Amino acid sequence: MGFGKVFIATSVDGFIARDNGSLDWLPAPLDGEDYGYAALMDSVDGIIMGRSTYETVLGFGEWPFSKPVVVLSRTLTAADVPEALRKSVQVSNVAPSTLVATLREQGWKHAYIDGGQTIRSFIEAGEVSELTLTRIPILLGSGIPLFGPLPESIVLRCEYSKHYPNGVISTRYHAL
Ligand SMILES: NC(=O)c1ccc[n+]([C@@H]2O[C@H](COP(=O)([O-])OP(=O)(O)OC[C@H]3O[C@@H](n4cnc5c(N)ncnc54)[C@H](OP(=O)(O)O)[C@@H]3O)[C@@H](O)[C@H]2O)c1
Repeated sequence: MGFGKVFIATSVDGFIARDNGSLDWLPAPLDGEDYGYAALMDSVDGIIMGRSTYETVLGFGEWPFSKPVVVLSRTLTAADVPEALRKSVQVSNVAPSTLVATLREQGWKHAYIDGGQTIRSFIEAGEVSELTLTRIPILLGSGIPLFGPLPESIVLRCEYSKHYPNGVISTRYHAL
């Protein structure tokens, strides 16, 4: 059974943040619409995110996750995690497949994978089975990319697509 689920907003030209990390182009919630985020969170046992995404989330002030988080980093250690988060946030620098094996042993069935570099390394390791793209109708021109080179193509099956009144299109793919 596939382990990793990606759920991420991208510009039409495939960026997940501006060059400076800004997310000012993401739409405000539309009449409480969450584009499927709560359902995705309900379906996972925890979150694996890259250090850059972790730092962005820390900058929001209030920690938004009630599920365990693994932060991938070769520069942070457990001591860098604020005391208040140490029960729910761990730091790891092991390879994606090794981390997945460890988390499965701990009972995790699915993880939400977040952050561009992190998503790419999990895709390359074959550890992403579901990919939901929330495509925002904007061309950023440049920024932090979601996708990059792959050793070989990965065929996807589109299993759901929804067009929202504000022009956002949410599409869920499965890796075959
Ligand atoms: N649009 C959206 O929905 C959305 C969602 C999430 C994030 N974002 C934005 O995307 C940006 C972050 O994306 P990003 O591509 O820069 O990267 P990221 O994956 O969040 O973070 C990259 C960092 O994670 C660590 N890392 C990644 N893969 C690793 C591995 N296999 N082993 C060990 N460490 C690993 C490294 O940290 P070290 O350098 O510490 O070693 C690397 O520098 C932020 O601006 C964030 O706000 C947007």
